[in-house]
Amino acid sequence: MKITHIKSHHLSHSLEKPFESASMTFTSREHLLLEILCDNGLIGWGECLGNPIVNAAYIKAMTPLLIGKNALDIEPIWLHLYHTFRDQGQRGATLNAISGIDIALWDLAGKFHQCPIQQLMGGAFRQRIPAYATGGFRMIGEDRITSLLTEIAEYKQAGFEAVKIKIGFGVALDVASIRAVREFLGDDIELMIDANHGYDHIDAARVANQVADCDIAWFEEPVVPEALSSYHKLRTSQSIPLAGGETWHSRWGINEALKQNTVDILQPDVCGVGGLSEARKILTLCDVHGVRCVPHVWGTSVALAASLHFHAIIPPSPTSPGSASPRFEFDQTHNPFRASIVKQPFTLDNGCLNVPTGHGLGIEIVRDELEKYAAKTPS
Ligand code: NI
Ligand code: CA
Repeated sequence: MKITHIKSHHLSHSLEKPFESASMTFTSREHLLLEILCDNGLIGWGECLGNPIVNAAYIKAMTPLLIGKNALDIEPIWLHLYHTFRDQGQRGATLNAISGIDIALWDLAGKFHQCPIQQLMGGAFRQRIPAYATGGFRMIGEDRITSLLTEIAEYKQAGFEAVKIKIGFGVALDVASIRAVREFLGDDIELMIDANHGYDHIDAARVANQVADCDIAWFEEPVVPEALSSYHKLRTSQSIPLAGGETWHSRWGINEALKQNTVDILQPDVCGVGGLSEARKILTLCDVHGVRCVPHVWGTSVALAASLHFHAIIPPSPTSPGSASPRFEFDQTHNPFRASIVKQPFTLDNGCLNVPTGHGLGIEIVRDELEKYAAKTPS
């Protein structure tokens, strides 16, 4: 099964209502999909986390290294790409591009062997993944707490058993927001907070200590990802479990973070960490370091499918009958093509998402939708 073509698809949609996290303002939704075509007619789909223009440029640069290769040689291809681009960067866009390519190769392998990716990767520990809603961004021009509670009410109504909100907008406002949401949700719905690295460890500890009685399941990205020692300080200065890792790349980047005792919960993203091949290796690191793996997910149905297969193969931690499944991050912010680009979109089923059972990723792409949302900028 030789690779003949690689094509990138930059999808874009301008947001009618822009929103912001502590680290960026979203005025549009932008995602990069790629397809790898083979000489036997099979096509594999992948997705890259991060800026589509940058990712598409890397994929274009990597394409000559892929044409003519056997698509089933997933590990040799991974290492060849990584080694060739090592001197330009062992993280960031290099790894985002490799991630998308690696996912597309696993999709091809599944289609070739006629089985779901999770089965090829060693088999599923679970077929249903309990989801949590990601939302609670700051809507520009709206009262923070009023708009937050209106949004959270929708998640409660939809049957979510867990919700993650954004913070990082100032200690006093964040504490008031968290308290209002916890009071609104009651005791039965899990609540997580994500600062998108908007704090230093001093203010992060202030927020955490003031909401210590709010039963927060985790505090995500309290500080910038480079500040490994700040993560470590924060673990000793407050009691909420710390989570992070969506921008730590590859086995080497993540091992460095885990060696420095930064987090209780690691959040690798299959579309950024190095694809499914690298994500599987990171499960071993989590096991060795005694850290839970609860992946980060942000993208279209391609990213959702790849992440569902990854969730399926995460070993239970701890290995006991009472061990809960890691929760699946299900972004609920406005994105018209998140679901429309596949024939059978992922929907909440009693608070859970089901792992696709078809061959490869187990999705069918709707090409009309890719064309409809194709970015006007060349990619
Ligand atoms: Ni819209
Ligand atoms: Ca996050």
